Amino acid sequence: MKIAILGSGFIARFYAESLIAQRRKDIITMVYSNSEERAKVFAGDYKIPHASNDLDAAVSHPEVEVVIIALSNHLHLPAVEACAKAGKHVLCTKPLGRTASEAKKMLELVENAGIMGGYLEDLCYTPKFIKSVASVRAGAIGKVLLAKSREAHSGPHSNWFWDKALSGGGAIVDLGCHCIEIARNYIGKQHRPVAVLCWSATQVHPIDAEDNAIGLVKYDNGAIGHFEVSWCFRGGMDLRDEVQGTDGTIWINNFLRTGFEMFSLGKSAAYVAEKAETNSGWLFPVGDEVHELGYSNMFTDMFEAIEQRRDPSETFYDGYIVNAVIDAAYASAQSGKWEPVELEVWRGNTEGAQTVSHVEFDENHYLIKEEVLPSGEKVSILKNKHTNVISKTSPEYQYNAE
Ligand SMILES: NC(=O)c1ccc[n+]([C@@H]2O[C@H](COP(=O)([O-])OP(=O)(O)OC[C@H]3O[C@@H](n4cnc5c(N)ncnc54)[C@H](O)[C@@H]3O)[C@@H](O)[C@H]2O)c1
Repeated sequence: MKIAILGSGFIARFYAESLIAQRRKDIITMVYSNSEERAKVFAGDYKIPHASNDLDAAVSHPEVEVVIIALSNHLHLPAVEACAKAGKHVLCTKPLGRTASEAKKMLELVENAGIMGGYLEDLCYTPKFIKSVASVRAGAIGKVLLAKSREAHSGPHSNWFWDKALSGGGAIVDLGCHCIEIARNYIGKQHRPVAVLCWSATQVHPIDAEDNAIGLVKYDNGAIGHFEVSWCFRGGMDLRDEVQGTDGTIWINNFLRTGFEMFSLGKSAAYVAEKAETNSGWLFPVGDEVHELGYSNMFTDMFEAIEQRRDPSETFYDGYIVNAVIDAAYASAQSGKWEPVELEVWRGNTEGAQTVSHVEFDENHYLIKEEVLPSGEKVSILKNKHTNVISKTSPEYQYNAE
């Protein structure tokens, strides 16, 4: 694939590092920046033959087959418009839009133009995530009841993030987008997110947007997605997921304490890891950051999807659903109540809620739980199907309390 990258900032560099790493056959052929100088520097750094400060010219360059949008949030929609006009496949960084209405326009643009719209949700491509989602889908932890995802750091690195008009909001739109899509993957994308209850606050910074938030997302099968986001967390980038299923549990730490710990007096200025706040003391470096953050697997899926004329795992439709959940989160943070997720486009389950089937103990009882006590005694807690009485069995004492 011949690629144009729009943007020359922080994420554009992460993407470029991932695209030139290893023996990739996909080539960055064009970089666009609104600053001609930055475009040239970026092109020099990554040996890119073409650089431009004209967005339409960059996108419609005859060599370009696919465009990566790595621009600030307010420019995603105009950039997708340019790609649709030029008929070029487009991969857009997160969040897709500042609102669901922007994201829906982008979805319509790519679908009407017959181009692929890939959603660059890297945290749904980390090696740990791919393995754990495969385990969940294979039934390893039963029905997912709760999927919690946390992303917290000390705040973004560029001015526009802190300006609500340009970014669309604070930590919810910036970090919650990752957490919401992570939970949605675990719970199952066929399940409709129904309503959101969210608390948010501006606890530390002099900004209009929130720098802290916690939200619950209720799904049509009764499962709960839980996002926890902060721009006030000190000590690096905290990326953790917890999944609770009827038959098992998954805990993932994606970035801190991954098994690589280093102590340094800090005499070198070496880069440690994204959002690391120090280079001295005990440190948590990340071995292959672009891989461990999911970028490598993400681009492989995206380019293969284009070649194989299939959808990638994360599409503009997914980005739109995430934006709709975020809109409901902002509404709930304002009202203090559960707010519905408004979905004008929904392509998943329509048949409604599914329940967990209870475990039979015998013809008259359901099994609630079994446990071996410190004495070695094995007990079973049961519910009588006819009387609803809860009882305990043990070898000595059958069905006590009934
Ligand atoms: N993990 C991730 O997936 C991840 C991480 C960081 C950022 N992002 C996303 O990437 C996008 C860019 O973020 P970033 O961290 O690279 O920010 P950045 O500030 O480092 O880069 C922003 C880019 O947009 C360009 N830009 C800004 N205003 C412009 C304007 N008016 N006209 C033309 N170009 C303009 C800048 O020149 C720069 O190239 C955002 O949507 C952000 O949410 C994603």
